[in-house]
Amino acid sequence: MKAITRTKYGSPEVLELKEIPKPLPKDNELLIRVHATTVNRTDCGILTGKPYIIRVFVGLTKPRHLVPGTDFAGIVEGLGKNVKKFKVGDRVWGLHDEGFCSQAEYMTLAEDKAVIKIPEKFSCQEVVACAEGAHYALTFIKKFNIDSDTNVLVNGATGAIGSAAIQLLKHKGAWVTAVANTKNIDLINSLGVDRTYDYQKEDFTKDDKRYDFILDTVVKSSFHKCEPLLKPKGIYVSSELGPNAQNLCLPLLTKIKGGKRVKFPIPSNCKKSLEFMSTILAEGKFKPVIDRVYTPEQIKKAYTYVASGQKTGNVIINFNSKATD
Ligand SMILES: NC(=O)c1ccc[n+]([C@@H]2O[C@H](COP(=O)([O-])OP(=O)(O)OC[C@H]3O[C@@H](n4cnc5c(N)ncnc54)[C@H](OP(=O)(O)O)[C@@H]3O)[C@@H](O)[C@H]2O)c1
Repeated sequence: MKAITRTKYGSPEVLELKEIPKPLPKDNELLIRVHATTVNRTDCGILTGKPYIIRVFVGLTKPRHLVPGTDFAGIVEGLGKNVKKFKVGDRVWGLHDEGFCSQAEYMTLAEDKAVIKIPEKFSCQEVVACAEGAHYALTFIKKFNIDSDTNVLVNGATGAIGSAAIQLLKHKGAWVTAVANTKNIDLINSLGVDRTYDYQKEDFTKDDKRYDFILDTVVKSSFHKCEPLLKPKGIYVSSELGPNAQNLCLPLLTKIKGGKRVKFPIPSNCKKSLEFMSTILAEGKFKPVIDRVYTPEQIKKAYTYVASGQKTGNVIINFNSKATD
């Protein structure tokens, strides 16, 4: 089968498209024909092995898995003899942020991992665009108590995390201000935000409005810059370590000090996120945002684009060009 492979940490240049043996499912595993997977920021972190702390989870000296890929959508083509919850022909999608070997034509996976059925009427590309970014957005939003009086500012509203976060916050009833580039203002308006800031024309930190929560999804700002915008008990949540890894220490320091707080949530329970996303997709309450679709042959280009930090929503790799979905 065709698979993306790499045997060391490095830039997209270490990636190679190769023929490798098709995996065989163990007794408790599904054999899945992958139709779509994304290249996301977690994949880029695992590719470079940076920040170094990530290597504790994905391999200390070299990547633990030959094949990269953290999410997938496809069709069950084979079953181990003990599999109970799935059958051949089921359309399934999944996510695992420590690596799923999903950037290949086939993958195997235990049925009790983060894999669920795709809701009817949604394509593999649509659901896979609701996996990684939405999972992180849900993790961050869980840190807030939200009702219709809650004011939230999302910086980086057009990334995979940001574009999911603004929709999930609106779904919960919050009043949402979003910060984005000129070219994406129409997009974020179409996702239902209440107010926009064009970061190429205005500095949102000069805003005179005060927020209950600030979600800095791309860490182009910092707690110190955002602090004046927070209400007295306001919370700043970041998706990354920030300058000098300050977002690791600030949660404790601000908790001791009292008042405005920093939180740095650690994502967990991918399966719960997939189930929640399936429900709101089926209810028509979430729009997947897809930027570009690449072929496996274009994998280096795809990683280079994602690592540039300029993608809008999600970048997909189409592993089955003959698939109709
Ligand atoms: N904590 C974790 O476990 C974890 C996991 C995954 C990702 N992350 C991190 O979370 C961050 C976001 O991930 P993501 O997948 O959402 O990223 P992404 O999709 O790569 O984000 C790209 C977006 O960032 C926006 N952007 C770039 N410069 C900006 C600026 N100065 N102000 C506001 N927006 C700006 C771009 O918008 P425009 O096109 O409008 O410029 C683009 O849409 C990344 O830094 C990633 O490394 C953390």
